Amino acid sequence: MKLADLLAMKTRGEKIAVLTCYDASFATLCENAGVDVLLVGDSLGMTLQGAKDTLGVTLAEMAYHTRMVVAGAKQCYIVADLPYGSDATPERALASARALVDAGAHMVKLEGNKADAVRLLVENGIPVCAHLGFTPQSVHELGGYKVQGRDAAGARKIFDDAVALEQAGAAMLVLEMIPATLAARISHEIGMITIGIGAGPSCNGQVLVLHDMLGIYPGKSPRFARNFMAGADSIQTAIANYVRAVKSGAFPTAAHSF
Ligand code: KIV
Repeated sequence: MKLADLLAMKTRGEKIAVLTCYDASFATLCENAGVDVLLVGDSLGMTLQGAKDTLGVTLAEMAYHTRMVVAGAKQCYIVADLPYGSDATPERALASARALVDAGAHMVKLEGNKADAVRLLVENGIPVCAHLGFTPQSVHELGGYKVQGRDAAGARKIFDDAVALEQAGAAMLVLEMIPATLAARISHEIGMITIGIGAGPSCNGQVLVLHDMLGIYPGKSPRFARNFMAGADSIQTAIANYVRAVKSGAFPTAAHSF
């Protein structure tokens, strides 16, 4: 899978199935079940390390997990998160992104409107996925796990940030916990590939945290997640059911949206 293939899927209206992934065994399972994109998310701070947020994850840990995922996947497009602080300046973001690309990532993801960093990465040949709406690295600044862009000013800011990030060269955009109508407008009016998580059914693709969709995260399951292990006889089947539900438009429904 290449970035051009994902852009072609957006053009064709074919939904893109994305899951977070942190190791080789799950990468192989996801790939065999038809997942298009694996996101080595810094959510591993919560799912694997048991922390209450993603802020303590280091660049070395992200590179380590990226190498594992790359070892287990031959076809999937692999996106790796720049962890908290590793993109504090554009120059630092470039050095951090190079470490993740050296570990095998095809694209790096960074949170918020860091257009200068995006521009520098793209100028240096590194594809970038942006992330707007609820951005977990800003959980304290945002006052908790809250839907973003509900009022007109908040929605306008997210839309304008998306435009700025596209102009800076970002090719993909994760939209997390925003109203479905806002995500639909961004997905239709902007060229970046949009991947939603709690952003309604109109995004070009969907992502879930692997541990949420398998129902194995001990914490509270977010409203936008669905446990695909329910009724499945294996993890492979659960992941294949997730892929099928995303591709057919059966997931997410209004019940998973805001
Ligand atoms: O770290 C992560 O898993 C993410 C997803 C929630 C999109 O950024």
